[in-house]
Amino acid sequence: MNKRAIITSALPYANGEIHLGHVASTYLPADVTTRFLKQNGVEAYYVCASDDFGTPILIQSEKEGKTPADYVAHWNKRDYDDFTAFGINFDYFYKTSSSENIEFVQDVFKKLNDAGHIYQKEIIQFYCNNDKKFLPDRYVKGICPHCKAEDQYSDLCESCGRVPEEITDPKCSLCGQTPTKEKTNHYFFKLKNFGDSLSEWLEETTTLQKDVKKYVQNWIKSGLIDWDITRDIPWGVPVPLDGADGKVFYGWFDNHLAYISTALKFLNDKGIDGKEFWNSADIYHFIGKDIVYHHYLFLPAMRLGINKEFKLPTYIPTRGHLTLQGKKISKSRNWYIGLKQFLQYYPADYLRFYLVSINPYSQDDLNFDWDDFTTRINSELIGNLGNFVNRALGFTKKSFDGKIPETEPFDEKDSEAEQKIKSLATDVSTLMEQNHLDRALKKIMEVSSFFNQYFQHKEPWKNGPGTTNCVYLSVNAVRSFAIAIFPFMPESAQKIWVQLGLDGNVADVLWSSQSELSISSGHTLGDASPLFARIEKSDIEKYKKELGPSE
Ligand code: 2FM
Ligand code: ZN
Repeated sequence: MNKRAIITSALPYANGEIHLGHVASTYLPADVTTRFLKQNGVEAYYVCASDDFGTPILIQSEKEGKTPADYVAHWNKRDYDDFTAFGINFDYFYKTSSSENIEFVQDVFKKLNDAGHIYQKEIIQFYCNNDKKFLPDRYVKGICPHCKAEDQYSDLCESCGRVPEEITDPKCSLCGQTPTKEKTNHYFFKLKNFGDSLSEWLEETTTLQKDVKKYVQNWIKSGLIDWDITRDIPWGVPVPLDGADGKVFYGWFDNHLAYISTALKFLNDKGIDGKEFWNSADIYHFIGKDIVYHHYLFLPAMRLGINKEFKLPTYIPTRGHLTLQGKKISKSRNWYIGLKQFLQYYPADYLRFYLVSINPYSQDDLNFDWDDFTTRINSELIGNLGNFVNRALGFTKKSFDGKIPETEPFDEKDSEAEQKIKSLATDVSTLMEQNHLDRALKKIMEVSSFFNQYFQHKEPWKNGPGTTNCVYLSVNAVRSFAIAIFPFMPESAQKIWVQLGLDGNVADVLWSSQSELSISSGHTLGDASPLFARIEKSDIEKYKKELGPSE
C-alpha cells in the first residue's frame, strides 16, 4: 500500500442541495475509503470543493437577485454542513472560485498554450433572441447525434455518455424556441493530440476499472474531438490572454483542476510540499458514471499536456446512478430526498450502512427503496450486528458486573471464534483494497452472524463450562467490529468503543489491531445501551408519501 494518498470526489455544483443520489456514488465511497486508508497508517487527505462557475449558476443567481459570488458562498456552506452531518469528513473543502484555483487554471492554460495544445476558432454559437443570451451547454437541448436520444443537453448526452459535437434539432432550454446562430471566437483544447497517449495511459494503469477502460478505449478509437473551452459569460475564470477580454473558461476546464489547486493549498498551508506529495501519492478521483468522459479523457489529457507535472489518477472509482423507488431522481418532479431531510429522520450511519450495502464497484445503477432500507436496517444492521453487540456487552454487564473473567482452555468452537477475529483484518482489507466496499461490509456482517451463532451455541446464561471463554471472545469480537465498521459507520463505531470502556477514539486505532484479542481478563466495560433503534413501518409509509407531486 502506498503510504500517501489524495482522495477527491466529483465537485458538487454550488447551486442546490445535496441529495441521496450525490452521496451514494461518490462522497460516501470516497469517505469510507479515506477512513480505511487512514486506519492503515496511510497519510491520506480527502479534499473537495464546490463547483462554482458556469452558466446555470450565473442564471440562477440572477433569478434570485444575488451576485454569483454570494450565491455560491451560500451553497458552499450549506453543502459542507450537510456533508459533515452525514459524517463525510473532508480534510479540506474549498471552492473552484478561489484565487488559488483561478491562478492555477490560468497557469495550466498558459502552459498548454505554449505547448501548442490550444487554438482559436470562430464558431457559431446558439443565441436565443427571446432571452437575449448566448446559449452554451445546458441551455440547449436536442437530439444526440451519436445515439439519437431525444431531449439531451448540448454538452452531454445522458443516454450514451458522450459529448455531442453539435446537437440535432436544438431548442433553447429556457423558453423552448429555436435559437439562432451567432459568430464568436472560442479557444479549443486539442484533445485530438492525445489519442495515443491516453490510450497508452489507460493500458498501463492497471488500477483503473476494466469495464470503464474498455468503453473509453472505444471512444478513442472512434475518434476524439477537440474541446471548446471558453464561454461568453461574465462568470468564470478569465482567459489570461490579450484579446480574450470578457471570455471565461468553460466550467469543465477549470473544475477538475481544483482537485489539484485545493490539495496544494491545503498541503502547502500545512507546511507540506504539495506538489511533491501529489506526485508521490496514490490519486483517487471518485465519480459517478455520468462524468466518465471528463475524467478519463479530458482530465488526463490536460495533465499529459503539461508533461505530467501533476500525476495522473491511480484510481477513478466510477459507480452507477441512484434511482429512488425504482425511478430516476428528479428535483423538479419532487422525486428526490435531500440529505439534510433524510438525516432528520434517521441517523447518518443507517444511510451509510444501506448505501454501501447496495452499491457495488461497478456502473450498475442502484436503487434506494424504503422497504428494502427498512429490512436491511432492522434485520441486518440491528438484527445481526446490533443484536450481537448488545448481547455480548449486556450479558457481561449483568452476569460479570462488566468485568471480563479469567478464561479456561479453549474448545473447538472457541478456537474457531478466535480464528475469525484473527483473520478479520486481512479478509476485509483485501476487499477494501479492491474497492469492493459492499463486499467488505458484507464480510463483517457474516462474521457478526457467526458470533451470534457462537453465542447462542455456548448458552452462557446457563453458566456452564466455557462461559467465561464465550464472554472473553465475544467482547473481543465486539472490539474488532468497532474497528472494522469504523469506515462505514464511524459514529456507531465510537459508541461501541465507549461502551467497551476503551479510551480515546476508535479512529486512531490501527486497522490491523482488530485481529488482536487485546481486551484482557480484568478489563471493565463502560455502560451498555442499545446502539440502534428499529425503523417503524408506519414512519416509512409517511416518508414514501412525501415523494412526487404534492396533492
Ligand atoms: O457533474 C458535476 O456535478 C460536476 N460539478 C462535477 C465536477 S467534478 C470535476 F471537478 F472534475
Ligand atoms: Zn430562450
